[in-house]
Amino acid sequence: MNLDYIIPNEWSIIEEGFDKTQATASESIFSIGNGAMGQRANFEEHYSGDTFQGSYIGGIYYPDKTRVGWWKNGYPEYFAKVLNAPNWIGIDIKIGEEQLDLNTCLVTDFYRELNMKEGYLKRKFKATMNNGNQIQVESVRFCSLDINEVGAIKYSITLLNFSGKIQFTPYLDAGIKNEDANYDELFWKVLDIEDRDNDAVILSRTLKTKFYVATGMHISYELNGNKVHLPKIVHEVEKRIDYKSSTTINQGDTISIIKFGSYCQSMNHKKENLVSFAQKMIHKAADIGFETLLEKQKESWAKIWETADIIIEGDVKAQQAIRFNIFHLNQTYSGEDSRLNIGPKGFTGEKYGGSTYWDTEAFCIPFYMSTKDNHVARNLLIYRHNQLGKAIENAEKLGFKNGAALYPMVTMNGEECHNEWEITFEEIHRNGAMIYAIYNYVNYTGDYSYIPDYGMEVMIAVARFWHQRANYSNEKDQYVILGVTGPNEYENNVNNNFYTNYLAKWCIEYAAENLSKIKCEYIDDYNRILSLTHLEENEVSEWLKVAKNMYFPYSDKHGIFLQQDGFLDKELIPTSELPKSERPINQKWSWDRILRSCYIKQADVLQGMYLFENKFDKEVIEKHFDFYEPITVHESSLSPCVHSILAASIDRIPKAYEQYLRTSRLDLDDYNHEVHEGLHITSMAGTWSAIVQGFGGMRNFDGILSFNPQIPKEWKSYSFKINFRGSTLKVYKSHTECRFTNESDLPIQITINGEDRLIEKNELMII
Ligand code: BGC
Repeated sequence: MNLDYIIPNEWSIIEEGFDKTQATASESIFSIGNGAMGQRANFEEHYSGDTFQGSYIGGIYYPDKTRVGWWKNGYPEYFAKVLNAPNWIGIDIKIGEEQLDLNTCLVTDFYRELNMKEGYLKRKFKATMNNGNQIQVESVRFCSLDINEVGAIKYSITLLNFSGKIQFTPYLDAGIKNEDANYDELFWKVLDIEDRDNDAVILSRTLKTKFYVATGMHISYELNGNKVHLPKIVHEVEKRIDYKSSTTINQGDTISIIKFGSYCQSMNHKKENLVSFAQKMIHKAADIGFETLLEKQKESWAKIWETADIIIEGDVKAQQAIRFNIFHLNQTYSGEDSRLNIGPKGFTGEKYGGSTYWDTEAFCIPFYMSTKDNHVARNLLIYRHNQLGKAIENAEKLGFKNGAALYPMVTMNGEECHNEWEITFEEIHRNGAMIYAIYNYVNYTGDYSYIPDYGMEVMIAVARFWHQRANYSNEKDQYVILGVTGPNEYENNVNNNFYTNYLAKWCIEYAAENLSKIKCEYIDDYNRILSLTHLEENEVSEWLKVAKNMYFPYSDKHGIFLQQDGFLDKELIPTSELPKSERPINQKWSWDRILRSCYIKQADVLQGMYLFENKFDKEVIEKHFDFYEPITVHESSLSPCVHSILAASIDRIPKAYEQYLRTSRLDLDDYNHEVHEGLHITSMAGTWSAIVQGFGGMRNFDGILSFNPQIPKEWKSYSFKINFRGSTLKVYKSHTECRFTNESDLPIQITINGEDRLIEKNELMII
């Protein structure tokens, strides 16, 4: 994608001019969603050019039979995929006898806008048909936040230089395939098609998983803003229903179709009620009316922005980018349903299957915790607690015992669905992120009850895993963890990955510490947990032997922890010496060349120093940063945000800014040449952290909230808000001052630049 293709604007993502080569990239970037459903920005009308059609429903998946070349024992048989869902947005258009298709007619004045402030997608263009007839089209579409089972479209056509016939064919289509299906199978079975006066519903069921979904549409028309009735011809084929309606209008007239669509699904309703429920929903939306529903949409987004917005003055591109990230995070996960999670691509693509990676725990929790009520982050933790049984089964399959748990690399329902041995079996650091998220949540919210109620069981199972996964090395007289892949996936099957060993040690110690606390303070829970997990007290001392004597690879010469054993045998050539034509290396180099090289895909040792920054001195972090940053290629979206935060913490603001731009505009400027596949939703939370934790210097170790705000020279000022323990704190930083405003009725105790400060209710403190 071309840089500068998206027009800088503070509140909107804007594309001007129609470029077919950008079509699939734009479909990703302009995606819309409401936490329960989402869709790529596909055109409503037929498009014969290159397109990736995608609509998705939260929680609906299909276990696609695994396809691998060489089967390895322990591979899961299925890969649970986020399922491309029946299409309710489609409206085919005929102008006279010619189909409207932006691939075949002449398109001018094309404008597309994702209005992030108000939560809708808009498109305008002029089309000249092959016979010279010209029309102007404007469409507005959104997924409603107020009725999250409903979406709405208003699609208007104005005749510019002729009078004539227009035909609309709105349809529902359940004959949908996943682009990433392993065996080109269909995943949906259509059970019923219901058609009434102005609404239709298709009831379909996923094969194997048996999710039922009623996809509905409600159709009405307006001529020059006044309701009109257009007779229709109903056409039903196997998996599709459409309504054909035509009308002849005059030059200058505008005819609009208003289409409400809905997904009602069996995770939320009884399957026998789904069709009537879908009918009810679309009628409810139609009764409210397109304009009023859109007004409500604007109000709902205003509420979200009230706490989530980050304002950057003096740098429109940075402002646009941070809002883009915050907007998509909110479109993907609303936090009300603990069965849902945040997929790396959200509702914008299919790559990565599954919905849940360690991304949620390691990157997303801080964003949701600080910009929303506590229950949102808690729901994300409960999701993993609910899947503990499956994580224990998963570990058993791999030969672990005694209630040890290994959380999956990729999952929908708790079962592992990833199938590359070097990741599925070896990228076990993910287990540590589960515990880190609990620590982070409890620390930030002060809601300790989560640990006795739920978290302790997870911690015990994970501590058991690490205890069994480590082994004692006679040679080193220490415990080692062999055959792993760290966060840096450009190294596989390595021994003693620093990050993994560090987390393993920490998880065990944290579990032991909390067990002691619960024993003293929550004795009933303690007894319940012991009997539930069959934990014997002497087991804990065995775990602690491993933790206390864990080995970490270290270089005396460089004074740094090594990413893994033998890392210094590599030729250390900085990325600055890599020709541009060879980047990204994962698209240009053979895999073996990547593995042998020193290049690091994403923060690894530095990921550890980010999570446990309070355990390392600033000089130590600086040394590690200077060693690892020059050899990191940042080919994972999850990397630049961590480097940006650490760079800020060691006062390297220009570097922090460079990495910030990279994380925040990763998709808008398509740094990794893959935006057409979908957006990098989970790393967007890292972008938020790059401002709040990076430039803002917000930390929350040991329950103390602290700030150390700095500002890049490119910005005039920035400000953000956080929810902290019932209070809302606004932080503003410019080059001359720093303001902290307590917008709540409770005092907040914080540390600013190392000094303790009490900010009284409603107080503005200027530093
Ligand atoms: C990264 C993983 C991440 C996954 C999904 C991969 O490219 O290396 O750390 O979990 O993407 O975002």
